[in-house]
Amino acid sequence: MNLNQQIESWLLSQRAQLVARDRPFVTLSYAQSWDGSITLQSGEPLALSGEPAMQLTHHLRSLHDGILVGIGTVLSDDPRLNVRQWQGPDPQPIVLDAQFRIPPGARLCHLSDKRCWVLTSAETACPVDSALEVIRLPGDSAGRVSLHDALGELKQRGINSLMVEGGANVITGFLKQKLVDAIVLTVAPRLVGGYKAVGDLQFSDRAALPKIAPVFTDTLGSDVIMWGKVQYDNVAGDEDADHAGAS
Ligand SMILES: NC(=O)c1ccc[n+]([C@@H]2O[C@H](COP(=O)([O-])OP(=O)(O)OC[C@H]3O[C@@H](n4cnc5c(N)ncnc54)[C@H](OP(=O)(O)O)[C@@H]3O)[C@@H](O)[C@H]2O)c1
Repeated sequence: MNLNQQIESWLLSQRAQLVARDRPFVTLSYAQSWDGSITLQSGEPLALSGEPAMQLTHHLRSLHDGILVGIGTVLSDDPRLNVRQWQGPDPQPIVLDAQFRIPPGARLCHLSDKRCWVLTSAETACPVDSALEVIRLPGDSAGRVSLHDALGELKQRGINSLMVEGGANVITGFLKQKLVDAIVLTVAPRLVGGYKAVGDLQFSDRAALPKIAPVFTDTLGSDVIMWGKVQYDNVAGDEDADHAGAS
C-alpha cells in the first residue's frame, strides 16, 4: 500500500467506529511549516505543500462528504475546495461566516455542482446569488457560529464526514471544543515565523490538552505527513506510537 492508500484505509476504519453519533466524523487537515506556521500573516496565502502532499489533500477531500473553512480563509485565499488533483467526488463546500461577509464572487461558490453552504448567525444574511445556501445558526458567546449546532445541522443534512482545512481560528475553535477526531498534517520543510495554526486552547488542566495517539508519520516528497487520532482524555500515547513504512 502506498501512503495515500494507508491514510485512506486508516481514516475509513476510524470513521467506521464512530458512525452512530449526532455529528459528522471530523478530520482536521492542513499544511504548516516546521515552526508551526500556516502562513506568514493572517489574511495572506502561502503555498507550503509540495506536489505529492497537495495530491494527498485532494485525495482526502474526495473521501469526505463536506469540507469546511472559515471566512478568513475564503477572504484571503479564495480557495476552490474541490477535487482537481485526484479522481473522486467533490465534497460539499461549507463556510463558517458569522457576519455573512462572503463575497458573491467567491470561487468555491461557483466551481462545484454543489451550492456552497454558508453557516451564519447574521439575522440579515440573505443569499446574494443562487450559488449560496444560507444556513442560520445560533451564535456563541463570542459572536461566532456555534460549532456544536453547526455539526448537528450538517449531520442532519447528510454530512457524515467533514474535512476541516482551516484557518487558524477555525482549527483552534474545533480543537478547543474537542470536535476533531483525526488529524492529517503536512509539515513542509520551511521556517516561516508567521501565523500559527493553533492558538490558545484555554484548557486549564494541562494534562487534558489534546494528544495524538496512535501517531503515524511518513514522508511524501520533501514533506513529512503526520496523522493520527486526536484524544482529549489522558491516554498513554507513547506505547501506541507507530511509524508507517516508506511508501
Ligand atoms: N496552510 C494551510 O493549510 C492553511 C489552510 C487554511 C487557511 N490558511 C491560512 O489561514 C489564514 C486564515 O486564517 P484565519 O484564522 O485568519 O481565519 P479562518 O480560521 O479561516 O476564519 C476565521 C473566521 O471564521 C469565522 N467563524 C465563524 N464561526 C466561527 C467559529 N465557531 N470558530 C472560528 N471561526 C469562526 C469568524 O469570522 P466571522 O465572525 O466573521 O464569522 C472568524 O474570524 C489565511 O491567511 C490562510 O492563507 C492556511
